[in-house]
Amino acid sequence: MTTTATSTIALNNGVAMPAIGLGTYPLDDREVAQTVVRATGVGYRLIDTAAKYGNETGVGDGVRACGIPRENLFVTTKLDGGNQGRDRAIPGLDASLRRLRLDYVDLLLIHWPLPWHDLYVDTWRTFEKILATGKTRAIGVSNFKPAHLERLAAGSDLVPAVNQIELNPGVGRVGAREYDAAHGIVTQAWSPLGRGELLSDRVITEIAGRHGRTPAQVIVRWHVQHGVSAVPKSTNEARLAANIGVFDFALSETDMLAIDRLDQGEAAARDSDVEGH
Ligand code: A2P
Repeated sequence: MTTTATSTIALNNGVAMPAIGLGTYPLDDREVAQTVVRATGVGYRLIDTAAKYGNETGVGDGVRACGIPRENLFVTTKLDGGNQGRDRAIPGLDASLRRLRLDYVDLLLIHWPLPWHDLYVDTWRTFEKILATGKTRAIGVSNFKPAHLERLAAGSDLVPAVNQIELNPGVGRVGAREYDAAHGIVTQAWSPLGRGELLSDRVITEIAGRHGRTPAQVIVRWHVQHGVSAVPKSTNEARLAANIGVFDFALSETDMLAIDRLDQGEAAARDSDVEGH
């Protein structure tokens, strides 16, 4: 699990995942198709969607329109809560594949643990079966806390390849990152820029000024140097290009620590225990 110069991260089953991807929430089908074409044009190869986003059809349209061979793209989708439970993920993924009009995805995630339904361990066992069919190249989870991951570990030998969580300098999630790293799980950040709110922060803008970079680039680079994958969302071509153009500079240890100190803890998180995006 290392970040390489080619900006991919090796998952625990050997599959290579681009370190930076395109977040697509809350784009609709038309916007997302255009954005996938724009993003791949400036170098993105990872596209992150979910059944719940309602835009898988548009993501599939963009994938076909962009001209990049399918095998050079990395498509993530997420199983919605209504398809949790024993074997239900099989038709759940099939429906996603029909909307995407793809034969397979690269990564399939359980979107939320929904612990009050207590179905995520059964869902995970179904994911193991799906992995064996080749309809996804890797499986993982999203919004799982260490306690949820512990229950998966007790009920299954297969460790999630990825845990996608709300993570940005304001929501630092140190404990989750440490747990994931100790168990060979790649942490991936949703809302990695903190929905733009951190972009005017004084610490971030000072570091950005010193490096001659934008605040967003400093934040994405902070994720990369922590070994975290990030899926920032933008529809704007210049911002898309900037957000992925972070592999030719480095933050110092002092910069990293200054950004780490912006962590406001769980109180700043928006994911709490409700089913959000
Ligand atoms: P836009 O699509 O107009 O670029 P997050 O991924 O953390 O949720 O943040 C996404 C938000 O941040 C979007 O509103 C997006 O708007 C904005 N954004 C994305 N990249 C940048 C950037 N490089 N500079 C400023 N705003 C950005």
